[in-house]
Amino acid sequence: MKVLGFAGSLRKGSYNKGLLRAALELAPIGMDLETFDLESIPPFNEDFEKDPPPRVKEFKAAIRQAEAILIATPEYNYSMPGVLKNAIDWASRPYGDNAFNGMAVAVMGASIGVIGTARAQYHLRQSFVFLNMYPVNRPEVMVTSAAGKFDSQGGLIDERARKLIAELLASLMAWAGRISEKKLDNL
Ligand code: FNR
Repeated sequence: MKVLGFAGSLRKGSYNKGLLRAALELAPIGMDLETFDLESIPPFNEDFEKDPPPRVKEFKAAIRQAEAILIATPEYNYSMPGVLKNAIDWASRPYGDNAFNGMAVAVMGASIGVIGTARAQYHLRQSFVFLNMYPVNRPEVMVTSAAGKFDSQGGLIDERARKLIAELLASLMAWAGRISEKKLDNL
């Protein structure tokens, strides 16, 4: 199963990029996880949505080649970062050409605070309604106090978080399989 993962942070030392790297290590047998860097996606402009910039075309093509999506989101000001929302907005447009339509999606997040991106994740889940995406409900992967959970190379060393990511990926694979069998997007 082909899965596309992306993180809502452009920062080199991003903890959320670190979660994606951990997911690459923990992906179950049968999952082909690829990641996409949101760097170079310009600010959304509806004037260009029908013929978007090259990096947006690449993003939409990568989404369409995948069967499921994995998002690692930071929390900025109690919500998802603009970089993430911006990329989602491009990929969802123009109306009738939403690349995410009908796809299964899993969410995880890391923050330096003690809420661990919960507020960002619930805002993201709200967007899944209009995007017509089907999120995995459990487990919720909210990595709190992230600074202490990665080694100096940016590797995730927290065993509980690693276990939860492995469970999330297994749930995503099972859920995406069920969705494609039932073709929920065509109901
Ligand atoms: C933050 N941070 C933050 N953390 C949090 O738990 N709740 C929040 O609302 C915010 N708000 C916020 C706003 C802005 C503009 C920045 C830059 C940061 C801190 C955030 O958790 C921290 O910077 C993480 O390291 C960001 O994720 P990456 O870049 O490490 O993936």
